[in-house]
Amino acid sequence: MAKLSPSVLGVDFLSFKEQLKTLESCKTDMLHLDVMDGIFVPNISFGVPVINSIKKHTCLPLDVHLMIDRPHRYIEDFAKVADILGFHYEAGSDVTETLKQIRRLGCKSCLTIKPKTPAEAIFKYLPLCDMVLVMSVEPGFGGQSFMPCALEKLSALKSECARLGLNIDLEVDGGINKETAPLAVQAGATVLVAGSYLFKSLDLEAVVNELKSL
Ligand code: DX5
Ligand code: ZN
Repeated sequence: MAKLSPSVLGVDFLSFKEQLKTLESCKTDMLHLDVMDGIFVPNISFGVPVINSIKKHTCLPLDVHLMIDRPHRYIEDFAKVADILGFHYEAGSDVTETLKQIRRLGCKSCLTIKPKTPAEAIFKYLPLCDMVLVMSVEPGFGGQSFMPCALEKLSALKSECARLGLNIDLEVDGGINKETAPLAVQAGATVLVAGSYLFKSLDLEAVVNELKSL
């Protein structure tokens, strides 16, 4: 069974409390929080204060996806509010140091790759990762279509983790719905991020259960 990490990027924050209760009652595994700085990606979302408010209202683990330039500058701040803290391989920080720092600060570490980055580029960092996030859209916006190139990368990462004897979660993010989710799980994804497919649905509980059952 895949784990589910709903992305709250597109939610209406003023009515989110109710949806949060639904996510908790249908046992969503974690909550995905997309932090964008308008530099690493061409969009701006939210930062520590918003995540902190959400944290006060939920016991779901917070899966923070940093899409910011030189993320090492903010690891200490985000580690105070995140349970899993992820940053991009392409964002200009020392990858080894940043992964180590995240673990040192008590969070689970996650290294993220954009669609054009090959899986092999991060093989050497796998022993320092608790999770790897494979982007299946160009980061920056919800509601885009799934890019099938993510499937090959998930398979390659799954094989490499098996070869190294590592038990790392493989997360996939972007364009996940009832058609693409089974393909991603088959390729090796163990955590599905879904935004618009969940929150645009009229029955949140039904779609959560549908994705969780894969
Ligand atoms: C995009 C974000 C995603 C986004 C997913 O940069 O990382 O988490 O919210 O949204 P959907 O599921 O709509 O593609
Ligand atoms: Zn994300």
